[in-house]
Amino acid sequence: MLEKEKKQRLRQLRRKIRRLKWFPAYQNFSELGIKGRRNDEQRYRYLDFSHCKDKIVVDYGCNLGQASVKATQAGARKVIGIDSQADTIQSALEIRDLLGISTINYHVVDFNEKDFNKKIKQLFQDEIPEISFFLSVYRTKELKDRDGLFRFIIQNTKEIIFFEGHSERSIDTFEYYTDLFLKFNLNADFLGYSQKDTRPFFLIRL
Ligand SMILES: C[S@@+](CC[C@H](N)C(=O)[O-])C[C@H]1O[C@@H](n2cnc3c(N)ncnc32)[C@H](O)[C@@H]1O
Repeated sequence: MLEKEKKQRLRQLRRKIRRLKWFPAYQNFSELGIKGRRNDEQRYRYLDFSHCKDKIVVDYGCNLGQASVKATQAGARKVIGIDSQADTIQSALEIRDLLGISTINYHVVDFNEKDFNKKIKQLFQDEIPEISFFLSVYRTKELKDRDGLFRFIIQNTKEIIFFEGHSERSIDTFEYYTDLFLKFNLNADFLGYSQKDTRPFFLIRL
């Protein structure tokens, strides 16, 4: 692609991302000069992407695919990004292409659909992913069956789930998530708080 054409595509993409219907301008892609409101520095101190090398990774509620891109750059064999927002996924695809990445597939699936599990299973093509990212999605208030989704992720991850909570200080406490993981019989390592010390971050080994 010519430099001039790339610059023009980038300008249009930045504009589009600022106008997304849900979670506009959420994630950063410094390589492309795309600025988002999430402070991701702390989170990526905890999310050790070296676990992704040669693995299949699923990014649940991927948004523009920031974590998907980082997993790919760390050598993931295949990455599947899933989000309900078609306009967000369209922008994620454009970002992927501008970065010249071919090993991420993004898909529109709504976790609130009755058959979301069948749709996601189809994407796996009989290979259960080793790693899942479930970052700042569990307590999204519009989710109808957050525990059903979490159960699906647990049952469809072979090795590790990276889990980030939300940032409501009165709800998203260490104890809240410890109780949640106990309910699912999970061993979770608490790694610290991301997003200006508000979001608890865990590594769950299966
Ligand atoms: C708070 S953002 C977190 C994005 C990303 N995981 C991160 O932490 O940078 C929540 C994401 O989940 C997606 N999401 C929310 N409800 C969803 C649903 N019912 N089905 C699929 N994706 C959903 C949103 O579109 C949004 O991109």
